[in-house]
Amino acid sequence: MRTQVVIIGAGPAGLLLGHLLHRAGIEAVILEQRGPDYVLGRVRAGVLEAGTRDLLNKIGLGTRMEVEGLVHDGVEIAFDDTRLRFDFRDLVGRAVMIYGQTEVTRDLMDARAGFGGRTIYDADSVTPHDFDGPKPYVTYHQNGITHHLDCDFIAGCDGYHGPSRQAVPAASISSFERTYPFGWLGVLVEKPPVAPELIYASHQNGFALCSMRSPTRSRYYVQCGLDEDVGAWSDERFWEELRRRIGAEAADNLQTGPSIEKSIAPLRSFVAEPLRFGRLFLAGDAAHIVPPTGAKGLNLAVSDVSILAAGLTEFYADHSAAGIDHYSAHALRRIWQAERFSWWMTTMLHRFPDMSTFERRLQRAEFDLLRDSRPAAQAMAAVYTG
Ligand code: APR
Ligand code: PHB
Repeated sequence: MRTQVVIIGAGPAGLLLGHLLHRAGIEAVILEQRGPDYVLGRVRAGVLEAGTRDLLNKIGLGTRMEVEGLVHDGVEIAFDDTRLRFDFRDLVGRAVMIYGQTEVTRDLMDARAGFGGRTIYDADSVTPHDFDGPKPYVTYHQNGITHHLDCDFIAGCDGYHGPSRQAVPAASISSFERTYPFGWLGVLVEKPPVAPELIYASHQNGFALCSMRSPTRSRYYVQCGLDEDVGAWSDERFWEELRRRIGAEAADNLQTGPSIEKSIAPLRSFVAEPLRFGRLFLAGDAAHIVPPTGAKGLNLAVSDVSILAAGLTEFYADHSAAGIDHYSAHALRRIWQAERFSWWMTTMLHRFPDMSTFERRLQRAEFDLLRDSRPAAQAMAAVYTG
């Protein structure tokens, strides 16, 4: 079997790349190791930058988002007992769209089914081959049979643990990484959100976030230890800790209920360089991870694949390799900006083990700078809204 581009991974990065290539008349096959229900079952962040929203609308994928999504003109940041609202419209003339990553993925899957794009689910042992030469191919197993897929290019959109990055010889790739000594315990609940906009909160006990999926469904997080067991967090314990961290006024408005999902996720910053190895490209979580503070993960995946799709389109339409040659450098500039922002927001708002009172004062100074300096608030708002 042969196709122009093999995309490994049917997460948002792979599906969006498939969509952009289809629009450019380029055929792609997506190989995914799990089933569609598994892919849709993952609970992920839900903040779309203005540029992500614009792109989805431009390519005809924004209909449901514009009806069901919530446009947020600002965000709140609380530090101990001080709670501030940052008005994105006033600061930078932009807004964000609250629309779950699961919903974006569902819209992409529906669109792919609509144009008859091929996605091979439950593909085992997916392996990229010969990408350093002119004739790359990908093998995979399904139902006991080994399949061989010839192609011009391979796009590794297979997340942090996927096979694409691992197929690159160690001497050809560098990675840059920071792990954080804490995680986020997240709870999804069928109750209206505590406030109309997101609240990021920094408290002596640690970070907390009040987010939402819809006017009736909320998503909350508290910072927790990495080795903590989710089973040790009853709903009551979670609500009590959240109330403590978000300040009295928000705590009074909090509507609690039985959790419909509860999980712990570690925080990590990671970047691989470069993002191109001959005819293999890395995009999305396969190439980089950001801690969720700032909600950049999905937005970065969108920016990677937009740049990659433009380069591949130029290759096929104009017989020019300029776009794909520039992909890595171009995408990495944006990636490092998002890494910086996510690291900065994480560092400003979390409690680090053995943190001194000096460091807590520095966190407070960062917060006060956002409050007192319009240019500082504008810089934050510009990056947050994308
Ligand atoms: N073979 C085929 N597919 C694979 C393999 C494999 N061996 N390993 C992983 N995959 C698939 C995963 O099952 C998943 O569906 O690759 C897909 C990767 O999807 P995501 O992890 O969602 O990554 P990406 O599409 O880059 O999306 C980035 O997702 O993790 C969040 O914070 C991140 O929001 C960001 C977004
Ligand atoms: C979420 O809604 O899950 C969410 C929102 C904002 C973040 C991270 C996660 O920064």
